[in-house]
Amino acid sequence: MKEQKEIVAYLKDKGFIYPGSDIYGGLANSWDYGPLGAILKDNIKQLWKKTFIDEQHNVFHLDSSIILNSKVWKASGHIDRFSDPLVDCKSCKQRYRADDLLKQANHKNVSTLSLEELTKGINKLQCPNCSKQNWTNVREFNLMFKMSNSKINLNDDEIYLRPETAQGVFINFKNIMDTISPKLPFGVGQVGKAFRNEVTPGNFIFRTKEFDQLELEFFCHPNDANKWFKFYNHEIQSFLKNTLNLKSKYIKEFHVPTKELAHYSTKTIDFEFKFPFGWAELLGLANRTDYDLKTHSEHSNDELLVIDPITKEKYTPYVIETSIGVERLLFAIVSNHLKTIIVDDEERDILQLPFALAPIKIAIAPLTNKIEKQAFKLYEKLLKDSIGSIIFIKGGSIGKRYRKQDQIGTPFVITYDFDSQQDHQVTIRERDSKKQTRVKIDEITTFIQNHAK
Ligand code: GAP
Repeated sequence: MKEQKEIVAYLKDKGFIYPGSDIYGGLANSWDYGPLGAILKDNIKQLWKKTFIDEQHNVFHLDSSIILNSKVWKASGHIDRFSDPLVDCKSCKQRYRADDLLKQANHKNVSTLSLEELTKGINKLQCPNCSKQNWTNVREFNLMFKMSNSKINLNDDEIYLRPETAQGVFINFKNIMDTISPKLPFGVGQVGKAFRNEVTPGNFIFRTKEFDQLELEFFCHPNDANKWFKFYNHEIQSFLKNTLNLKSKYIKEFHVPTKELAHYSTKTIDFEFKFPFGWAELLGLANRTDYDLKTHSEHSNDELLVIDPITKEKYTPYVIETSIGVERLLFAIVSNHLKTIIVDDEERDILQLPFALAPIKIAIAPLTNKIEKQAFKLYEKLLKDSIGSIIFIKGGSIGKRYRKQDQIGTPFVITYDFDSQQDHQVTIRERDSKKQTRVKIDEITTFIQNHAK
């Protein structure tokens, strides 16, 4: 795996990810997705939706609001409990998560410590920045982004940007039941922005204040929750290893100890990835029990439960949740698939993305400028065949053009040459094997479909 600084530089140079607000000197930990990064991010979302929603029985889409009634966050526990323990160094003014500092100092069961206990532990440590031992007390810092509402109504004065997309699903449970009447078990998935006022954002796009989540809430009978937990564990493993082709040696499960579970969960597995900076959480699988539906039933005027059509049993469904950050996934995918190969004593970058993720699927290259017009006609024809994103590349030697496409992960380059005019054939070059095959123009689409991996 390449080093983090090489990956960051590569992603900027090739037009995937730029520092946010770049021309104004940037904004710490904010990133913009360039022409290739925007497509890659979108391809990840589409592939997740296909795998976890469209190809599953009884799983539905949702697109709920980012700004919700504050009562949602009171009921969900986010206003009271969604916080990190914060501590400042009084000497250098550096701010830290107290639990992170203690974990780095090998303290055990840190997440179970009270604020007083955390403060006691911190007071024994030196500041990693200035080496002084001059700390504030540890205090809770709520991670939700608070905004003020323009409406003059005290109750609506404080509103928040959602810190997870999941609550949008829970508060629409009744709407979904009343309108499309799904039979249990069923799932609701959604993709959307989430915001957290992280105390220590960082490690490139790993932890940011604004990110996209891919979340699936699967509602089932409480007795079946373990079965569906196992099912989604298997689906996640398969998605990571078979669909995204991430190496098994870079993935491990961390079974979150009972004492460290989030307030809504009775069982959580964090799937960790070996990022260039070390092992860290890539995504989570949790048994959220009936916590969310019950708490929203208590706080709203609605009973969020179901009645079994046969046994007439009345119950609150359990929820199995898979939750992934798109940016973390993108970071893992690029770290896994970006390689350096040596050809003729020369180092070359190659991004060996699965076909479904590649930002550009096909590049059309006229062998020389003289046949550019004819090659462009082929390009226009293929654009209409919906095989995926296609670009036209001219100028420079064909070898150089191949290498440039390898660098950005384009699986196929089609070369139109002088013979193409007569024999109506082109040469298709495959990124990973470098194999070149002569293919009839009419059979290009079938060839790509058969060889896309
Ligand atoms: N609904 C459950 C939930 O939000 P979480 O463990 O807090 O659980 C789920 O977050 C996933 O969202 C994480 O595994 C990670 O992939 C992503 N994520 C969370 N905070 C993030 C941040 N600040 N920046 C980028 N991704 C983040």
